[in-house]
Formats: sequence, structure tokens, C-alpha cells
Amino acid sequence: MDIKSLAHQLKQVVIEHDAMNLLETTFGDGLKRAPFGRDKLQWFLACHVASVRAVPTSILALAMRISNELLQHDYFNAHAVAARTLFAAAHEYGLANTELGITPTHFQLYRDGLRSWGFDENDIIHDPRIFPECAEITAYIDDVAMRRPIAQSLACHFALEEVADREFVLLWEGFSRHWRAYGLTGVDDPALSFYQIHTIQEPLHGAHGLEALTMYLEHVPTDESVLVQGVVEWMAIYHKWLKAFEGAFFS
Ligand SMILES: [Fe+2]
Ligand SMILES: [Fe+2]
Repeated sequence: MDIKSLAHQLKQVVIEHDAMNLLETTFGDGLKRAPFGRDKLQWFLACHVASVRAVPTSILALAMRISNELLQHDYFNAHAVAARTLFAAAHEYGLANTELGITPTHFQLYRDGLRSWGFDENDIIHDPRIFPECAEITAYIDDVAMRRPIAQSLACHFALEEVADREFVLLWEGFSRHWRAYGLTGVDDPALSFYQIHTIQEPLHGAHGLEALTMYLEHVPTDESVLVQGVVEWMAIYHKWLKAFEGAFFS
């Protein structure tokens, strides 16, 4: 297997998928066009908060599975492969900067953001309008990280990180453009910190995820179709999720 061409192929599957166009027209054009009204904003945040639930824990689970499997193949390098995914989890858990010690986790930043928007975080997580696609994508992320073949989990993880990179840039751009209309103190308002930190941290996650995948394949050769299918399946779920957002907020 030519690992370089495989990596290129997986990237192309992400870039060329219809979901990426829909991401641009919804989270991109839609959020920039005009600010949401208060009620719609609350509903949007509720759906988004519900959809990221499994991201930090799925990365941890994947890192542990990679470590355990590769210890059998390459005792001294196993953790170095897992570290490529754990890197993203360190960000999620607020452990990225050891000199600063334990800093707010991404979810704590999101909670503080919700408060700065003027919402109660408990109202947000119990919003009855959260559509089923949010629980569906969360269940998928959990399932693929914990129960599918590790190569497929890694392919999905890579694709998830790639789309998240663009998604968070668009969230940041869309919301920060209308900070006055949203009643925020500026583009550095805590309401936007969760999105803003991802624009800094996210770009490395996809690249490291791909590196983890290619290192893993050196030890555990896997049919290319499993990897392509892993990305395709994720993109289909993500596309469905975006369509729900399109229907609720952008049409
Ligand atoms: Fe995050
Ligand atoms: Fe990430």
C-alpha cells in the first residue's frame, strides 16, 4: 500500500464531499448573512452543544485502543502513535500547556460562552428542540471510536478533525462578525472563546490524526477500502447532520 497516495485519497474524499459545500452555505454564508434572533440562537447553541458530546471521550478511547493493540507489535513506539490522537484530547481536556497546568476544558469554555451569551447552560442542554441528528452523530462517534476496527476509527477520527477545522473557523467568523447585534462586548467576548480556541488548536488535529493512521498501518496493514469507507461513512453522517441544521436554521 502506498501510504502517501492513500492519505491524499482520504483527504480528497473529505474535500470533495457534498457535505463540505453544505457546510459553507450554512455555517459559512448563513451565519454571516444576518444574526440569529434570540430564540433561534438558543436553539442553535443547544443543538451544537449536544452534537459535540462524544468528541473528547472518543479520542481518549481511541488513544487507549491504539496503545493496547500496538504494544503487541512495537512495544516502545506504541504510545507515540497514540500520542498523535491524544494530542487533540489534551486540547479538549485543557492540558495543552504544561507550564500553565490545568486550564479550562473545551466544554468549560463552551459553558462560560453560553453564560456570556446570556443563557443558562442547563436550559441549553435540556432544550426540547434539539433534533435527533445531534444524538445520532454523538452515538456514531462513540460507536466508531470504541467498537469498530481501529483502522476505521482512525479514518473517521481524521475526517472528523478535518471537518471540525473548517466548521469552527466558520462559527467564529459568522458569530464574531455580528458581535454588536448579539450584544457581546467585542470579538474577544467569552461567548466566542470556544470557537476561537478551535481556530488555533484545530488545524493540527487533522494532520496528527492522519499521521497516527499512517503509523498504525505500518504495523497493522489494513485494506484501503476499510479506510476509505471509514471516511465516507463519517461524511454521510455529517452531511445528514448538516442538512438538519440547514432545515432548522438556514432555510
Ligand atoms: Fe474541542
Ligand atoms: Fe479537534
